[in-house]
Amino acid sequence: MRLQNKVIVVTGAGGGIGRSIAARLASEGAHLALFDIGDSVDETVAAIAEVAAGAGAHVHAARVDVADAAAVRDAVDRARAALGPVAGLVNNAGLTANVAPLLRMADDAWARELAVNLTGSFNLIRAVLPDMVAQRWGRIVNISSAAARGGLFRQAGYSASKAGLLGLTRNVTLEFADQGITCNAILPGLIETPAVAKMPKVITDYALSLTPARRLGQTDEIAAVVAFLCSDESGYVNGAEIDVDGGGRLCPMVLGSVREVEARRDFGR
Ligand SMILES: NC(=O)c1ccc[n+]([C@@H]2O[C@H](COP(=O)([O-])OP(=O)(O)OC[C@H]3O[C@@H](n4cnc5c(N)ncnc54)[C@H](O)[C@@H]3O)[C@@H](O)[C@H]2O)c1
Repeated sequence: MRLQNKVIVVTGAGGGIGRSIAARLASEGAHLALFDIGDSVDETVAAIAEVAAGAGAHVHAARVDVADAAAVRDAVDRARAALGPVAGLVNNAGLTANVAPLLRMADDAWARELAVNLTGSFNLIRAVLPDMVAQRWGRIVNISSAAARGGLFRQAGYSASKAGLLGLTRNVTLEFADQGITCNAILPGLIETPAVAKMPKVITDYALSLTPARRLGQTDEIAAVVAFLCSDESGYVNGAEIDVDGGGRLCPMVLGSVREVEARRDFGR
């Protein structure tokens, strides 16, 4: 019950990772404002109802496009009226609008990826910071991606938006760390969400052949790190970029074993 009575906003709460984050934070007693652009946020409310009730956590849900600054301000105002001042924010809403060769990336897809993944997080941060400053306590967690560091083939807009989120994370720390506020980024590798489960096996097998853990990450493995970063215990962790990727960011070359190279090449066959 590390998060008892803390009011935490979670965006993208209807999605695969967002639902696990909501369940974990509720189980630790946080009151939750769950935002999503889609109706799946209602399924999350239903899915976590029992665990929330057991922990005495109140849950408020809203449909909001994080890219719309005015709508975000309004949604945060309503969440505050329902639950109290905001102490935590998890910027988890995100999308890939286009998978295309760089020269064929559509203008509107590029703009949408930046608007949701980067500007959306900025909109939320700006809306909740005054509450955190007033309480002299706050926790912001930005869900970036391994793509922020490594890039991602034919996903230029996505990678750029997630890299931008790291810059934003650093600036919040620089400007607000002395007011009891932390802002950290999580960089997930490939996580087993319903969307990832639908990818062709040859694609996930290739990704796993490059991942030392040789398995997909689980949504609750992201949620566990989020819960720590939202707690009192993480007070001196600030401006950090935490990889939750099974070691996937490390050098995949093998120069010392022909057998190991062949095993990786044949992975999944
Ligand atoms: N699944 C992975 O392997 C993986 C890896 C690295 C990073 N991530 C990041 O983790 C986060 C969650 O991803 P996921 O895999 O659960 O995806 P998901 O598609 O299941 O969930 C994303 C949620 O965000 C919501 N959303 C999209 N645009 C929105 C908007 N404009 N306003 C409000 N909500 C919006 C969607 O409706 C959806 O419910 C994303 O930021 C994603 O980029 C995921």
